[in-house]
Amino acid sequence: SDQSAFDTDVWTLTRFVIETGRQAKGATGELTQLINAMLTAIKAISCAVRKAGLVHLQGLAGSVNVTGDDVKKLDVLSNEMVINMLQASYSTCCMVSEENKELIITPKDKRGKYVVCFDPLDGSSNIDCLASIGTIFAIYKRVSLISVGEPTEKDALQQGNNIVCAGYTLYGSATLVALSTGAGLNFFMLDPAIGEFILTDRNVQIKKKGKIYSVNEGYAKYFHPSINEYLKHKKYPEDGGAPYGARYVGSMVSDIHRTIAYGGIFMYPANEKSPKGKLRLLYECNPIAFLIEQAGGLATTGTQRILDVQPEALHQRVPFVAGSPDDVNEYLTFVKKYQ
Ligand code: AHG
Ligand code: MN
Ligand code: MN
Ligand code: MN
Repeated sequence: SDQSAFDTDVWTLTRFVIETGRQAKGATGELTQLINAMLTAIKAISCAVRKAGLVHLQGLAGSVNVTGDDVKKLDVLSNEMVINMLQASYSTCCMVSEENKELIITPKDKRGKYVVCFDPLDGSSNIDCLASIGTIFAIYKRVSLISVGEPTEKDALQQGNNIVCAGYTLYGSATLVALSTGAGLNFFMLDPAIGEFILTDRNVQIKKKGKIYSVNEGYAKYFHPSINEYLKHKKYPEDGGAPYGARYVGSMVSDIHRTIAYGGIFMYPANEKSPKGKLRLLYECNPIAFLIEQAGGLATTGTQRILDVQPEALHQRVPFVAGSPDDVNEYLTFVKKYQ
């Protein structure tokens, strides 16, 4: 009809989360509360990102975090917004953030049953050149008994297999949320006019095979020969096929979102200087692996499925390779040649 520009029964992310919550057996609404609080923080971060150059939010905060990154002002701001918003939702017991060395324990009077691991601002080296950045999170249920007392690191050191909900936000040419509660992957686009995320892509599936590879090839000197052999095969295919295109933003969320949207492979492998790679298991690799698998893709360390890795430390790193199933499996055949 000619009203088509205005959907009068639009699926917002808030509606989607309420609906999914209502359908879950025995649900109390606590997860709905938690996700909605996260989305409010995300909207506030999106707003701050869009204004950063105007309100003195570019540049360094003047400190270095536990994994050795120079912390930016927007890292600190985003981190505080997520922590405060989540604690105010009465649905968390503890959190892990890239920007906090220790487990963040929710004040006793505000506790709920969930654990959240998050990267408040991903790709922060891209802030000052206005390239796309993101936010990443994964939600788990508390495992330690509430009667036993305080939440512990054990609550956060869960396999990705236990994720109840994960998502990322891309602050790109538009702001987009990719979210899954384990029943497929959906994309929601922020409509700034109403401040709501609108469902734009339902049950997203990644291509079986892509045409793009994404890696920081500047580290080739330090890569294992299996990686370099694989990359050579992408550039000079022995079967006479067309070489792959190369894309690397250096913001995981951007590189992953493109990989899900267009297909292909993203990798941050180990190298001689970083024997475990760079990306951190709890708040980067696990949530992204969960979402990629929900879209029919694969995510591996090279020797193990990411979601099967048993975490041992809050900020541990793992080599990470993810994307279209045929591409990741092809990469694994190069790994096997050296085993
Ligand atoms: P963060 O900004 O949250 O610390 O993450 C940075 C990560 C990730 O976004 C990206 O994939 C990677 O760093 C890029 O690292 P290189 O500059 O070594 O390629
Ligand atoms: Mn960082
Ligand atoms: Mn990151
Ligand atoms: Mn970060």
